[in-house]
Amino acid sequence: MKTRITELFGIKHPIIQGGMHFVGFAELAAAVSSAGGLGIITGLTQKTPELLAKEIAKCRDMTDKPFGVNLTFLPSFSAPPYPEYIAAIREGGVKVVETAGRSPEQYMPALKQAGIKVIHKCTSVRHSLKAEKIGCDAVSVDGFECGGHPGEDDIPNMILLPRAADELKIPFVASGGMADARSLVASLAMGAEGMNMGTRFIATKEAPVHDNVKQAILQASELDTRLIMRPIRNTERVLKNTGVDKLLEIEREKGAKTTIQDIHDLVAGVYPRVMLEGDMDAGAWSCGMVAGLIYDIPTVRELIDRIMDEAEKLVRIRLERMLAA
Ligand SMILES: Cc1cc2nc3c(=O)[nH]c(=O)nc-3n(C[C@H](O)[C@H](O)[C@H](O)COP(=O)(O)O)c2cc1C
Repeated sequence: MKTRITELFGIKHPIIQGGMHFVGFAELAAAVSSAGGLGIITGLTQKTPELLAKEIAKCRDMTDKPFGVNLTFLPSFSAPPYPEYIAAIREGGVKVVETAGRSPEQYMPALKQAGIKVIHKCTSVRHSLKAEKIGCDAVSVDGFECGGHPGEDDIPNMILLPRAADELKIPFVASGGMADARSLVASLAMGAEGMNMGTRFIATKEAPVHDNVKQAILQASELDTRLIMRPIRNTERVLKNTGVDKLLEIEREKGAKTTIQDIHDLVAGVYPRVMLEGDMDAGAWSCGMVAGLIYDIPTVRELIDRIMDEAEKLVRIRLERMLAA
């Protein structure tokens, strides 16, 4: 399939794997890129720029296809050394960066001078337009359904994607709630040029996480995610567990007075315990409502091939037949 996104990134299929903390290691990124999508290494999961350089080199050994790196821009009081991370990306020859969190404006000159294409993840039309204005090549439009940080506007993709299509000139992918061929065809119909998946890619053979995480996603329904950190305007969609129940209890008690310190132990340092050790009740970890549409643990290639095969059938058989009738 050829879209503005496949052309922009030099990939075969318009499917991107979003950066995921303690999931987006070389093994997953390489598997997605080798299967014709765009795999993304999560930059900040690597504790130092030197470790990121090693992870990039490892990924390069595992695939000869293009892959990207996610850089999540955190509030300035906790900022990692971004210029050094960007240097590691540039020196590693990576040509795509998925930015997220705060605006990448400050780092655009460094990224563009290195010939890097930037796709910024946005949860609103206004942020998407800002990304276009500051020179991003594409955006990943992340609806309210998404795993991770959906922002504070709560606009689901049925509205957000066509709104983005009405306003943007640069291409965008649909993100949040994407699982299968139906997601892809619907996204294309609403004006996107491809799709970005997070949660769906965790439940694959190659995702380098504990099997308990994959089983938890398999068992979860669309009703099992919760929104945390609303009172501090850092909303995150996570999978319900006993740690999250405790956290929500604290938020209920403290209301608008909740501070990050009140919930610190249930959100900080949780990812390695969940993803590497399989301690499923350690605290909050991102997961999308799309868990309700995940029924198996295929290889990444099986997943991507199935999506592309079924997307073709959806268009050529189901939709064509409806038209022909
Ligand atoms: C476990 C997990 C960790 C994530 N970590 C990050 C991250 O570090 N940086 C980021 O930009 N997005 C992160 N995301 C968001 C994904 O990149 C993607 O935007 C999101 O998962 C899309 O929604 P979906 O899960 O419904 O597919 C994470 C998502 C999950 C599920």
